Amino acid sequence: MHIEKAVPKVGALVTGIDVKTMSDAQWGQLYQAWLDTGVLIVRGQDLTKADFIAYSSRFGKLKPHRVKATRDPAFPEITLMGVTTGSDEKKDKLVLNRGQGWHTDSPWDTEICKGTQLYGLEIPSYGGDTLFASMYAAYDALPARLKERIAPLKVAFGYGGRSRQGIERLEPEDQARPPAVWDMVRVHPETKRRSLYINPTHVINIAGMSEAEGDRLLAELYWYMLQPNAEYRHKWQAGDIVIWDNRCTVHSAAGGNPADQRRVHWRTTIME
Ligand SMILES: [Fe+2]
Repeated sequence: MHIEKAVPKVGALVTGIDVKTMSDAQWGQLYQAWLDTGVLIVRGQDLTKADFIAYSSRFGKLKPHRVKATRDPAFPEITLMGVTTGSDEKKDKLVLNRGQGWHTDSPWDTEICKGTQLYGLEIPSYGGDTLFASMYAAYDALPARLKERIAPLKVAFGYGGRSRQGIERLEPEDQARPPAVWDMVRVHPETKRRSLYINPTHVINIAGMSEAEGDRLLAELYWYMLQPNAEYRHKWQAGDIVIWDNRCTVHSAAGGNPADQRRVHWRTTIME
C-alpha cells in the first residue's frame, strides 16, 4: 500500500490496496490518513454495492439520504448519482450546475454528517472534477481579531441556503423543519483541531445578527476559505473511492463535463 499527500494540506492518495481484503492494520492506516488530510482517495477498486456498503460502514453509521428519489431501490443507503444523464437533447451541452458551489454535506440536517463517500463507475472524457478545500487551513489563516470575534457565534443552515432553492426535493416534513444551528468554529471530535464551519451554499444567517451585519462578516470570512496548498482538484478515474470529512472540509462539483456522456457515482452518507 502506498499513501501520498494529494496537496500539502488536504487529501491523501492511496494505491496498491484492495479495500475488500485489506488487513486491520492497513485499515487503521487508511482511517488515520483520512483524519490527517480530510479527503481519502483510494484508486483502482472493483466493488459491488454490498462491498461499497461494507467499506463505507467501517467509517461510521450509514444513513439513507433524505432525498428519496435517488436512493438505490435495493440498497437505500446508496444514493445513485448521474444515472439519468446522457439524453440526446443534451448532446454537445455541458453540465454546469450540479452540486456546484462550495459546501459541506447536510449541515441543514438534525445531526452533523461525518463523511460522504463516492465510488466512481462511469467517468466522462473531460470535466466533472470534484474540488476540495481544508477548513482547518481556513481557520488557521484567520487573523486573531476574526478568530476572537467568531468564537462565540452560531450559524443557521438550510437546504438551498437563504433562497431555499431545490427544497422541493425533500419530503414535506423535512422542508418544514426549522434551520439547523451549529457553532461557526467546530472542534473536530477526533482530531481536536478547530475549523471554520460556514459555506456559501447553505448558510441562512448568523444567529443574533442582522442580515446586513452577518453578510458583511461572512463575506470577509469567505476570503479565507481557499488557502494555498489546501485546495485539491480531484480528476476522477473509474474505480476511485473518495471520502471527505464534512466536519473539516468543503467541496464543490467543478462541472464542465459533456452532458451527452454518463457520469455515474454511488454515494454513501456516513454519520458519527
Ligand atoms: Fe456535496
